[in-house]
Amino acid sequence: MLAIEADALRRTYTSRTGWLRPRRTETEAVRGVTFDVARGELFGLLGPNGAGKTTTIKMLNTLLLPTSGTARVFGHDVAREPVAVRRRIGYVFGGDRGLYERLSALDNLRYFAELYGVGARDQKRRIGELLDLVGLTGRERERVEGYSRGMRQRLHIARGLLHRPDVLFLDEPSIGVDPVAARDLRRTVAGLAAAGTTVLLTTHYMAEADELCDRIAVIAGGRIRALGTPETLKARVGDRDVLEFEVYGVDEELLARVRRIPGVRGAAVEERGTAQALTVQSDRGAEPHARVLAALDGVRVGRVVSREPSLEDAYIAIVEDATTRREPAEVTA
Ligand SMILES: Nc1ncnc2c1ncn2[C@@H]1O[C@H](COP(=O)(O)OP(=O)(O)OP(=O)(O)O)[C@@H](O)[C@H]1O
Ligand SMILES: [Mg+2]
Repeated sequence: MLAIEADALRRTYTSRTGWLRPRRTETEAVRGVTFDVARGELFGLLGPNGAGKTTTIKMLNTLLLPTSGTARVFGHDVAREPVAVRRRIGYVFGGDRGLYERLSALDNLRYFAELYGVGARDQKRRIGELLDLVGLTGRERERVEGYSRGMRQRLHIARGLLHRPDVLFLDEPSIGVDPVAARDLRRTVAGLAAAGTTVLLTTHYMAEADELCDRIAVIAGGRIRALGTPETLKARVGDRDVLEFEVYGVDEELLARVRRIPGVRGAAVEERGTAQALTVQSDRGAEPHARVLAALDGVRVGRVVSREPSLEDAYIAIVEDATTRREPAEVTA
């Protein structure tokens, strides 16, 4: 049996804006999303801010009703059998909310174990196992207010697992977590999946998705734009060269100029501390190096490196494709 089946899911939000003359505005957050997740699979949802990832997860975990379409978790319909669905799932949203600051980690877990109906006899052992799993054994009597972000995230995961869910939804678990803590978190997540828990994960860290996910759906503008293993997604940009320029002060206008260079297939800029990283994808052999430098006339340029296409490059290509085409076809595999 499949762990998750989403079929033509849609969700429109209606909200009121304006005070003097209130108006109803509609946002089509999710516009027909279809995918399956197998039991024990680690499935990633990637996409830019506002793509519809959290909305999709909230429909799957019964926090939001779909406007149309259906979804099942282990065969249970999320709209008609929400109680049966909730019994099988756990979820963790990134960020700081949802824990009791003045309580110790242990008391937090005891409290939530009561709430989730974990039997009294089972509680102690279960909490002990989970503290071990997320690496908090020995720190469990400290108050959460003294916990670092990474420790909180791990405690959140333990909370989400108390009732032994078969599916765990992780919405940006590594947000704001330092690289070492993030690595520990990835180990924890990989361990869960290896032990048979189905995991649906969203993240903005491509390396994390590449390392962890069996399959990935890239979602933008409420639609799935690509779906496949990290390898099949990367193959889309396998015939490209990638140059990375360390730059200072590149704006949209300069970026547009770079994109117009013959042979350039995509360009994106990302803040890296005080500098920026400008990534330029081009047709293999197009050698746009000199022309990019000319286009950047006046901008300070540091190191330039050439590298193999990564999942991030594939992601950028897919999302750029989705935003430049007016009504792109849905791509599924
Ligand atoms: N409660 C709400 N009311 C109105 N609009 C909403 C609501 N929640 C989300 N939206 C809108 O729906 C769209 C999708 O939002 P969603 O939170 O699902 O995106 P996301 O992919 O999770 O983004 P992010 O990466 O920033 O978390 C956005 O345009 C957002 O503004
Ligand atoms: Mg979100």
